[in-house]
Amino acid sequence: MKILVINGPNLNLLGTREPEIYGSTTLNTINQELIEFAKELSNDIELDFFQSNHEGDIIDKIHSIKDYDGLIINPAAYTHTSIAISDAIKATKIKAVEVHLSNIFSREDYRKNSFIASSCLGSVAGFNKTSYKMALLGLYDYLKNE
Ligand code: DQA
Repeated sequence: MKILVINGPNLNLLGTREPEIYGSTTLNTINQELIEFAKELSNDIELDFFQSNHEGDIIDKIHSIKDYDGLIINPAAYTHTSIAISDAIKATKIKAVEVHLSNIFSREDYRKNSFIASSCLGSVAGFNKTSYKMALLGLYDYLKNE
């Protein structure tokens, strides 16, 4: 089972970026911990990682997703603005889970809307780096039983 993990803008700065909101773990460490968690779930999970600060690059990456079974995506600020990323997920029909480190529903009003959620199987928000593990668990369970 091949799963792509996409992280959007400013998430390359995790570790130093507003640690009181996003924690102090770097994106590289989050990814390594997700690989370890995937091994605990099954020896059948292969993870690839992509981070970009550019909307079009994220869309191009989603367009090239045909070799994957599923997508975990933290679209970061594009969550609240990007109909184009949402459309790309719908167009490819990839089974996707939306992830947020912070609880977007308990923050500023402009973060409460997600254009991405309607293209996804489900969403996880508010559990910091554990959100990614919860997303992988949910996606793995869904794909295994598909
Ligand atoms: C975020 C939440 C977004 O509102 C914000 O723009 C981010 C990170 C999160 O993971 O909590 O960059 O997606």
